[in-house]
Amino acid sequence: MTPNQVREKYLKFFAERGHTVIPSAPLVPENDPTTLFTGSGMQPLIPYLLGKNHPAGNRLTDSQKSFRAMDIEEVGDNRHTTFFEMLGNWSLGDYFKQEQLPWFFEFLTKEIGLDPKRLYVSVYAGDETAGVPRDTESAEVWKKLFSDAGIDAKDIELITEENGAELGMQGGRIFYYRDKNWWSRAGVPEKMPAGEPGGPDSEVFYEFEHIAHDPKFGAHCHPNCDCGRYLEIGNSVFMEFIKNADGTFGKLPKRNVDFGGGLERIAAASQGKDDVFLVNHSYLIEALEQSTGTTYADHIRAYRVIADHIKAAVFLIGDGVLPGNKDQGYFVRRLLRRSILAASKLGTISVASLVGAIVENYKDQYPELHTKSAEIESSIRDEENRFTATLARGMKELERYIGKGSLSAQEAYELVTTYGFPLELILEEIGERGITQIDIEGFKELLKQHQDLSRAGSEQKFKGGLADTSEATTRLHTAHHLLLKALQVVLGPEVHQRGSNITQERLRIDFNYGQKMTDEQKKEVERIVNEKIQENLPVIRTEMSKDEAEKLGAEHEFGAKYPDRVSVYSVGPLENAFSIEFCGGPHVEQTSELTKAGTFKILKEEAVAQGIRRIRAVLQ
Ligand code: SER
Repeated sequence: MTPNQVREKYLKFFAERGHTVIPSAPLVPENDPTTLFTGSGMQPLIPYLLGKNHPAGNRLTDSQKSFRAMDIEEVGDNRHTTFFEMLGNWSLGDYFKQEQLPWFFEFLTKEIGLDPKRLYVSVYAGDETAGVPRDTESAEVWKKLFSDAGIDAKDIELITEENGAELGMQGGRIFYYRDKNWWSRAGVPEKMPAGEPGGPDSEVFYEFEHIAHDPKFGAHCHPNCDCGRYLEIGNSVFMEFIKNADGTFGKLPKRNVDFGGGLERIAAASQGKDDVFLVNHSYLIEALEQSTGTTYADHIRAYRVIADHIKAAVFLIGDGVLPGNKDQGYFVRRLLRRSILAASKLGTISVASLVGAIVENYKDQYPELHTKSAEIESSIRDEENRFTATLARGMKELERYIGKGSLSAQEAYELVTTYGFPLELILEEIGERGITQIDIEGFKELLKQHQDLSRAGSEQKFKGGLADTSEATTRLHTAHHLLLKALQVVLGPEVHQRGSNITQERLRIDFNYGQKMTDEQKKEVERIVNEKIQENLPVIRTEMSKDEAEKLGAEHEFGAKYPDRVSVYSVGPLENAFSIEFCGGPHVEQTSELTKAGTFKILKEEAVAQGIRRIRAVLQ
């Protein structure tokens, strides 16, 4: 089955079981400062998992576009990709384990046609310190399902990440793990901050019989072994816990199911192919083979890097993230540069020329890619031209070092960080030209310092943003709505939001506008926002049909798709509102609440990408 067929079957299967199909949220989370990208299906649904009512009901299903930046370096093996779609089905306080596990089993074996003998499962081993019991209930459900399929499923006592390789499969079918079978955004129970939801989960693995265990990964194979024989294809999280401020666990107001399935991996299992690229990127592989006259088999790593990265970049740009130097834009730039470099190994080929094939393949599910294909292609082409020029300049620098016969750590570091040269390429070039004096160790030390710094930066960001429903963040969220409208009043109605990030300290908005704002314009925007705060307007949430909201001119997010019923916030009564936005909240009730924090002030206005400006502002 192709990925498009798997997606269609999955959504239909759950729709027939009372689920409302909801559209994918954008890859850049709205109003969630804890993370740069949507990397799982649950992120956009956090408020509902915490107990808020979802306008589309308590059974939902979707296929969520996801991007995991931390996997960029992993790309090159048979299964890691940065972009993927996560199939989801959601019970918001409705069904639980007894329905979830049989449905997923039925979907895999009956709809996709996987052989139940090739399926292995894991369940939660329990954690006394966290006060969460062992999940024998899921194990019992699995035993019965396998037994009905004619398989005697033995459960294995306890395998941990550490002793799995020692113990091996032991003839088991159901495996109890601890850390691997707990899910929260922050990871294992002890890492979860207060207020974070999570729970035990049960994973399903598909066995590729033709892959022999590789002892490089340990003496014996087991489902969570990294050798590639077992591929995780779906995870049912039983999300019923929330971390308390004192470190113990409490129960969420409702018990939820958060299921996440790897669309591309299920498609790969359905074809019995362990190489996800051959299943999900075959049209790109063919296009590359044709245009370069090379073969996938001979350049497997370069092909995988190009295919993964260019596809991720297309989806990210489609959601409004242009290549840049900061935040999300930095990753798009990095993806493009890595793919351009990989492509340079195959001959003269433009990665921008691959955009059309990706858009074509996804046009039914993601029509926004089609609408914006010209824009996507031209921004990739611009980046490609710029980077090719940078590379040429870097090459000149490199020639200079070759001339003097040595390369210092600092020089190598600059080639990597300023000119985007990967170390392998530098080593290759100088190796060929006979330079032997290279301070690789010193270079690695410099690079490590650089990485430590950026890691510290992102941890800080996570911490700072966690109080995302705190009073301070909520006030800034309302200020953010006022600001967007004030920008439209001052700069013109064509100004729209292209990104947003709100912490307790400040708000940040990215918007399209071609020039630097003048001091007068900034003053006027501040004046309008403060005036609306003083007018003490009510902030009102209304649920309505998407059409109605569009008729009212409600502001929506660039590139986002919305379900048929939406939640809208207006500042001022709906019929006479100052601002109306599609939005999930939370907000203050009256604008005068913002005065408790102070007056609205713009701290900084700057360019982040071509045609995109960024404002940082505070209430102080
Ligand atoms: N939240 C779980 C995951 O991302 C299941 O959706 O794996």
